[in-house]
Amino acid sequence: MKILKTISGAREHIGSLTQGLEGPGFVPTMGALHEGHLSLVRKSVEENRLAGVSIFVNPIQFNNPCDLEQYPRTLDEDLGKLASVLRPDDFVFIPAVEEMYPTPVNRVYDFGNLGQVMEGRFRPGHFNGVGIVVDRLFRIVRPGRAYFGEKDFQQMTVIRKLMEIEKLPVEIIPCAIIREPDGLAMSSRNVRLTAGHRKAAPVIYQALREARQEYAHKPPGLLKEQIRNRIDSTGLLVTEYVEIAFESTLQPVHSREQTGMARCFTAVQAGDVRLIDNLRFTPDN
Ligand code: PAJ
Repeated sequence: MKILKTISGAREHIGSLTQGLEGPGFVPTMGALHEGHLSLVRKSVEENRLAGVSIFVNPIQFNNPCDLEQYPRTLDEDLGKLASVLRPDDFVFIPAVEEMYPTPVNRVYDFGNLGQVMEGRFRPGHFNGVGIVVDRLFRIVRPGRAYFGEKDFQQMTVIRKLMEIEKLPVEIIPCAIIREPDGLAMSSRNVRLTAGHRKAAPVIYQALREARQEYAHKPPGLLKEQIRNRIDSTGLLVTEYVEIAFESTLQPVHSREQTGMARCFTAVQAGDVRLIDNLRFTPDN
């Protein structure tokens, strides 16, 4: 794999290999890579003649300065993991902050409801920062397909909207959530959990699964309350939000009589670590 640190170097490498034909498969990340990230990278390698990964801890998407400061950075290990998945011409793009943001950024996106609910409400400015960096990365890499995890389902819907706004012809490929054996969704932030919070955290997925089983006969409002109570009853975890919403619009589901694919979303504070998870509630068949 090739390691590229500059925008011009990345453009040159990618341009010479694609020669105006189909762009590479691309996985943008913030590093501290785990099996969740690697599942995206493997899929991209399978589906594209050229594949690339970016590692960039994007300062402008952190609404909380402590979170940015404490975000895990494990570049050597990340490169070791990527070396076992990527092929000789595939690339890792690792720009410095000054390379990505030589001048102050002031673009303001309007993602409509998609950017206002849930994460948008509790992390002001977050999706704007994500939009800016993904737009910049896509204009450098010019991918044909980009791979995003359903772990951040709302982020994926915001990125699809971004493609409309910026008129970028990138196919956004959704990838399933990869979990620890006990059900906790893998996240770079999990390493920061205390032993107690780590032990309690699998209740998030358990609560979502239990509620899904009852989705056919209990109203959404009641299920949301049930999930919240189950998580908060640990005494260690504090639920920030629980929402059952349509996948396409992220508008809340008020009753099961409404048609459309629904998904349950939650964010939970575990000490000073914030965890998010979600689960599709409408049966696939
Ligand atoms: P990061 O949190 O590093 O995640 C990079 C990609 O990996 C995202 O698409 C995310 O949804 C996916 N991912 C993370 N954990 C996963 C899991 N357990 N299972 C499946 N996929 C998982 O998301 C970001 O970075 C940033 O916001 C970024 C898009 C790179 C912009 O800065």
